[in-house]
Amino acid sequence: MSTNQAESFREVLGHFASGLTIITGITDDGPAGFTCQAFSSLSLDPPMILVLPSKTSTSWPKIGGAGKFCVNILADHQEQVSAKFAKSGTDKFAGVTWEPSPMGQPILDGACAWIDCRVNAVHHGGDHLIVVGAVEGLASRPDSRPLLFHRGRYAHTAESWSDRDAAVRPLLKDHV
Ligand SMILES: Cc1cc2nc3c(=O)[nH]c(=O)nc-3n(C[C@H](O)[C@H](O)[C@H](O)COP(=O)(O)O)c2cc1C
Repeated sequence: MSTNQAESFREVLGHFASGLTIITGITDDGPAGFTCQAFSSLSLDPPMILVLPSKTSTSWPKIGGAGKFCVNILADHQEQVSAKFAKSGTDKFAGVTWEPSPMGQPILDGACAWIDCRVNAVHHGGDHLIVVGAVEGLASRPDSRPLLFHRGRYAHTAESWSDRDAAVRPLLKDHV
């Protein structure tokens, strides 16, 4: 792919707004994690999710090697945490408070939600891996707002879900 094609790919695909996660786990060297935009719900029955680690990630092989991981869905005040966990080879957990999930994996303070997973399958997808996680536990903070990412920048919602809860929730009842 030429430089122009790569720029077009990023520019066009960047229009798809998403939330942000930090994938965490416990390795032989202690807690590990990396910022990951590529996350999706996959299956309700059985409950499964997808995460797409780059093949250049140095944290994923160590996390995935343990056969389990935790998805931390970031809240809108966690831009700096996101940036910190996007820098390879640094002491990412310095100054970061967390508590262990039921599976023992780091739940970062202030995250909107966490999802404990076991690695169910790993497929190749070009320069990324397609990791299927079987969900073993999860919880959320209903009053939190998510951190968003759109066109290469952090973004924020205009209002909190709790403000909209009463109005929107009935519309979603057949979907969730
Ligand atoms: C906003 C944002 C989104 C990212 N999304 C992903 C992603 O979906 N998958 C991925 O592997 N890396 C993603 N990264 C890059 C990793 O966080 C980054 O490469 C990190 O340095 C990897 O750390 P590691 O070498 O400790 O694994 C993202 C970074 C940022 C800032």
